[in-house]
Amino acid sequence: MIYLDSAATSLLKPKSVGLAMEHALRTMASPSRGGYSAAMDAAETVYACREAAAALFHCESEQVVFTMNATHALNLAIHALVKPGMRILISGYEHNAVLRPLIAASADVVVARSPLFDRAAALEAFRSRMGECDAVVCTHVSNVFGFVLPIEEIAAECKRQGVPLIVDASQSAGALPIDLKALDCAFIAMPGHKGLMGPQGTGILLCNHATLPLLHGGTGSDSRRRTMPELLPERLEAGTVNVPGIAGLLEGLRYIQLTGLERIRLQEQSLLCFFEGCVRDSGAKIFFSAAPEAQHAVLSLIPGNGNCEQLAESLGRAGIAVRSGLHCAPLAHETAGTSESGTVRFSFSPLLTEKDVGEAGRKTKEILKNNYSL
Ligand code: ALA
Repeated sequence: MIYLDSAATSLLKPKSVGLAMEHALRTMASPSRGGYSAAMDAAETVYACREAAAALFHCESEQVVFTMNATHALNLAIHALVKPGMRILISGYEHNAVLRPLIAASADVVVARSPLFDRAAALEAFRSRMGECDAVVCTHVSNVFGFVLPIEEIAAECKRQGVPLIVDASQSAGALPIDLKALDCAFIAMPGHKGLMGPQGTGILLCNHATLPLLHGGTGSDSRRRTMPELLPERLEAGTVNVPGIAGLLEGLRYIQLTGLERIRLQEQSLLCFFEGCVRDSGAKIFFSAAPEAQHAVLSLIPGNGNCEQLAESLGRAGIAVRSGLHCAPLAHETAGTSESGTVRFSFSPLLTEKDVGEAGRKTKEILKNNYSL
């Protein structure tokens, strides 16, 4: 199989991730809940992962909260900031992990709509509506189109207008620079199982704002208190954390630090451009930006006959794993005018080879040209 669905989960991982998870499963107990070596080893591993994340995202280790996934992290951030009736400004590219918690919180959602791959228009859409709103939630990179929103500029505008910002870094963490100190936003949410190369069941919320817990329970600290501790990260980490998952995530973070963000970004960029060149004359409508700063690691297309599911099935039979449909982001499709058909999404990992991507590109083009059969 040639795996081109890293925007969903990075199935290709450094070997050290699985090895660390297995080691943790066999040897580690509950962190912060015992003075014996198996519990201490677990606490050290969790702390090392917090430190590694803090170094990568330029914050203090206490600001790093472990979650189940990005959705959990976004729910925490939205729960802390959003009260019923508040006007919340979001981009036209948000995932349901943003939209649904906002609707559940009875927020009045305002969409800063802007055309695909137009970063200046995206900034202007936010700038012009921000004054009427209580908070902003914005994705860094669209999971459907790979559109990179100008998050640094949006964050600066939020600061200028005094509006708190939540960033969804689901598609950018592990490849694009993310600096909590420089952005100075309220929260940044991300999964552990995509670009950070950890396993499913891991996520991170970077906190720079007062918080409210979503779950209440034991933290291994301050046990006489009837309520959750005030201090982070314990305040948001009720119950035993996912130690094998965090041990794997730590190895993912080490891989990123060793490889370097710039090298990862350039490798994904080069694979994306190479793939686009392979499928360019296939009769499909391809969503691609020639500006490298506007698109990252994800390419969507619609086949000539508009049947995305059929193309994804044919690709699957040919050993190419992609995702088709709306990708849990109906808003992004409304913005791009692709709600009717959805798209077929190809997403790239730094661990893919040019040979694999070239083969996937050739097969995709052949399938498109031969009416869905190879
Ligand atoms: N949000 C993930 C995706 O885009 C699962 O596929």
